[in-house]
Amino acid sequence: MRAEQPQAVHLADYRVPAFLIDHVDLRIELFEDCALVHSRLNIRRNPADESQARDLVLNGEELGLESLMLDGRPVENHRVDEGFLTVPSVPEHFHLDVTTRIHPRDNTRLEGLYQSSGMFCTQCEAEGFRRITYFPDRPDVMACYRTRIEADREAYPVLLANGNPVDWGELEDGRHQVTWEDPYPKPSYLFAMVAGDLVEKRDEFVTGSGRTIDLRMYVEARNEAKCEHALASLKKAMAWDEEVYGREYDLDIFMVVAVDDFNMGAMENKGLNIFNSSCVLASPETATDAAYDRIESIVAHEYFHNWSGNRVTCRDWFQLSLKEGFTVFRDNQFSADMGSPTVQRIDHVNMLRTAQFAEDAGPMAHPVRPDSYIEIANFYTLTVYEKGAEVVRMIHTLLGPDMFREGSDLYFARHDGQAVTTDDFVRAMEDASSRDLTQFRRWYEQAGTPELRVTDAFDAESGTYTLTIRQSCPATPGQSHKEPFHIPVRMGLIASDGEALPLDAEQNTETVLELTDTEHSFQFSGLAERPVPSLLRGFSAPVKLDYSWTRDQLMFLMSRDPDGFNRWDAGQKLAVDVILSIQQGRDTEVDPRLVEAYRTLLTTPGLDRAMVARMLALPSTAWLIELTDEADVAAIDGARHQVEQTVARALRDELLQVRADHHPGGDYAFEPGQVAARSLSNSALALLTRIGDDQGRDQALAQFDQATNMTDRLAALKALVDSPFSQEREDALARFHADWQHDPQVVEQWFAAQSGSPWIGNVNRVTELLAHPAFDWKNPNKVRMVIGVFAGRNLTHFHSPDGSGHRFLGEQIRRLDAFNPQISAQLAQPLTRWRQYAPHLRDSMAGVLRELRDLPDLSRDLYEVVTKSLG
Ligand code: PHE
Ligand code: ZN
Repeated sequence: MRAEQPQAVHLADYRVPAFLIDHVDLRIELFEDCALVHSRLNIRRNPADESQARDLVLNGEELGLESLMLDGRPVENHRVDEGFLTVPSVPEHFHLDVTTRIHPRDNTRLEGLYQSSGMFCTQCEAEGFRRITYFPDRPDVMACYRTRIEADREAYPVLLANGNPVDWGELEDGRHQVTWEDPYPKPSYLFAMVAGDLVEKRDEFVTGSGRTIDLRMYVEARNEAKCEHALASLKKAMAWDEEVYGREYDLDIFMVVAVDDFNMGAMENKGLNIFNSSCVLASPETATDAAYDRIESIVAHEYFHNWSGNRVTCRDWFQLSLKEGFTVFRDNQFSADMGSPTVQRIDHVNMLRTAQFAEDAGPMAHPVRPDSYIEIANFYTLTVYEKGAEVVRMIHTLLGPDMFREGSDLYFARHDGQAVTTDDFVRAMEDASSRDLTQFRRWYEQAGTPELRVTDAFDAESGTYTLTIRQSCPATPGQSHKEPFHIPVRMGLIASDGEALPLDAEQNTETVLELTDTEHSFQFSGLAERPVPSLLRGFSAPVKLDYSWTRDQLMFLMSRDPDGFNRWDAGQKLAVDVILSIQQGRDTEVDPRLVEAYRTLLTTPGLDRAMVARMLALPSTAWLIELTDEADVAAIDGARHQVEQTVARALRDELLQVRADHHPGGDYAFEPGQVAARSLSNSALALLTRIGDDQGRDQALAQFDQATNMTDRLAALKALVDSPFSQEREDALARFHADWQHDPQVVEQWFAAQSGSPWIGNVNRVTELLAHPAFDWKNPNKVRMVIGVFAGRNLTHFHSPDGSGHRFLGEQIRRLDAFNPQISAQLAQPLTRWRQYAPHLRDSMAGVLRELRDLPDLSRDLYEVVTKSLG
C-alpha cells in the first residue's frame, strides 16, 4: 500500500484561476545531461476571482529551482512543497523570473521534456508543463509564448517550438539559438519544443482565402522516405475542414514531427504536432493498409484540433470530451468522406461496442464528462473519446447537417480564444437550432450503456404495426439510478419482397424516432403484412438493442436491408446466435444457414469487397465475452473455433475462387478499390490456412515471398502464424525478422503477429519476446505490441485457465510502473473487467489486482485503476 493515499479532484470544486498570465518568455538551454529553463511570466490578479487570494501558487514537479525573482528582486519567503511553489503576498501586477534545472535524459515517464533516440521533445498534455517549469498548469490559463531554444549546433541543428521563427543565430562554443513566437494565446498543455538532427520534408497548402501555408515534416534521416502519406493526408484534412466546417488554418507554418518514444498516438501542440512514429510514418513496403488508414485519420484528428481544441479549448480536464469527442467525430466524418462511409462506420462501431461498452459496464465506468478523477492521464478513455464522439453524432442526427453546421459556426465564433465547457458546446447547438437539448445533456452526465428492449405487434385488420421501445440503463459506480436518455433511433420497415415501406404521408422510407420517455410506442399504418423492422440504422445511438429477430429474418436483413451497416450487423447477430448456441449446448451442429449466407456473399457479383470481408469476419471473442455473463473464455473460443472451421471447410472452393479472382499486382496505392481487394483476398487466405489447406499454405508462402507491399506480406505471415503449419510459420517469422530488423515500425508488427496469435502466443512465447534484443522496456510501442497486444487481443492465452496469463501481466505492470506510470496504468485495463468472467478467471484476475494494490510504491496512475477496479 502507498504511504499516503492520492486525493481525488472534483468538478464541483472548480474555481476560476486566482492569477492570469498574459505572456510567457522562455529561454531553454539544452545540454547532454540537463536543461536549464529560464522563464519570465507576466502575471496579474484575475478580476473574476472572488477569493482575492494573495499568495501565488504554481505547479511544479521534479524541478530543481535555481533562481526566483519578483520584479527583478530575489524572492526569499517562497515555499516549495510536493508539487507546488508558493510565493506569499504578491502584488496586483508583476513579473516573475524562474530558472529551473531538469533532466530530460532521465525522464522515463515521457511527460514534460524528454529524450527519444537522441532528440529532445516535449509532451505537455495534460500536466506535463509543470515538469518543465513552475506554472499555473491548468487549461483555463491562456498566454502568448515566446520560446528561445539554445543547443549545440552540430548535434541539434533543428530547433522548433510553437508559432513562427522570429530570430536565430550563432552562439559561443558551437551553440546556436532559434526563437519562436506564437501569437495565439494558449494553455500550457499545448506548448511544445523539439531539438534534433532531423531532415525536413516540405510541402505547401493554399488556403481558401489564398494564403500559402508552409507544411514541414521533421523526421530522422532513416525515415525520409516515409513522409509522403502523412503530408498528403494533412493537405486533404486542411481542405476538408475549410469545406465542411469553414475552418481555415491560422499560422504561416504547420509542422509535424515523428518521435519513436511516445505514450499516446499523437499530440496537437499549436503549430507543432508531435506524433508517435507508428502513427505518422508510412511507405508501401513497410506499412499496411490499416496503418495508412490510421495515419490518415490521426493526422486529420490532430490538425482538426487546431480549431476544436486549440482556438477553443477546455476550461478544465473534466471537459476533455469537449475537444476529444468533437474532434473524433470530425475525424470520423473526414474518413467517411475519404473512403467508404459504411465500412468506416462498421470498423468504428465494432471497436466501440467491444471496448467502450466494456469500459461502461466495468468498475472504471464514468460519464463522458466525469465528475472526479485521481489522475487525469487515466481519463483519456474510450468513453471520453469514442462515446463522446457518438454523443456529438447524435446531436448531428437530431439537428440535421445544416443546423449542426450553424451550431458549430456559432460555437467557434462565440468561444474563439476561450476555455469552455461541454455545456457551452451544447448551448451553441441549441441556440443555433432552437432545439431544446436539456434532456439530451444527460448523455454527458450519466455513465453506462443504455439498453433498448423492442417489442412489436401487427394488427392485420387495420394494417397497423406498433413498435414499443423501453429504455433502461444499468447502475454504474456512484450512479445507482438513471433518468431516461434522449435517444435518436434511425429506422425503416421492410416488406417480405424486400421493398422499403413508406412510413408516413410523404412516403419516406426512413425516419428517426426520438425516445425520451422510459417507454415509447410508435405506430405505422397502411401496411398489407407484418414488416421486418430495421432498427438503429448506422448505429444512430451508442446503445444495446434487444429485439427477437429470427434467424431467417436476420438472413433476410443481411441481403435486403438498404442500410449497409445494418446488413453487416444482421450478419453479426446471426453469427453470435450460432456461436453462443453451440457454446451453451443449444445447438450441436453449426446452422447450415450461416454457411449458405456466407456462400451467397462470396458468390454474388458486384458486392463491395471491403463489405464482404467485414461480413465474413466472425464476431470477435471480445464481443462474445461482452455478450456473456460469467464468460468462460476457453468455451467461447472453442465454439467460435468450431464455427470458423466449419464455415471455412464448407466454403473452401469459394475462398479459393476469391483468391483466384483477385490479383493485387501493379503498383501499390492506398485507394479504396485496392484496399478492398486486398482485404477480401487476405481474409480468404487466413481462413484457408486456418483449416490447414495445402493450397492455402502454398499461396501464403508465395505471397510472403513475392509481395511488393507490407499489407500482403504481413497478411501472408499472419496466415502462416495462425495455422497448423509449424515449420513454415517459424521459417517465415525468422526470415521476416532478418529482412526488417532495421525498421522499428515493422519489428513492432513482427512482435504483434506473435503476441496476438491464439495459435502460438502463449506465455512462454511472449516471455521469449521480452528477452528478444529488439525489445526495449523504455519504448512504449514495443511494450504495447508485446504485452498490450497479448493481454488485450490474445484472449485465448491471456485467459489461460491456469491463470498464467494474468500473472504474467501483473509482473510486467509492476516492473513498468517504476518508470512509466501512464503505460503501466494503460496495461492494467484488461484486468479491470474481472467481474465479467467465470469464477476461476475472476479469482485469478482479482488476485493479481490485489497484489498490485498492496505494492509499497505504486504510482498514482496505477493506484487509481487498481483501487477503483477492486472497490
Ligand atoms: N490530445 C491527444 C489527441 O487526442 C492525445 C494525447 C493526450 C496525447 C495526452 C498525449 C498526451 O490527439
Ligand atoms: Zn485528440
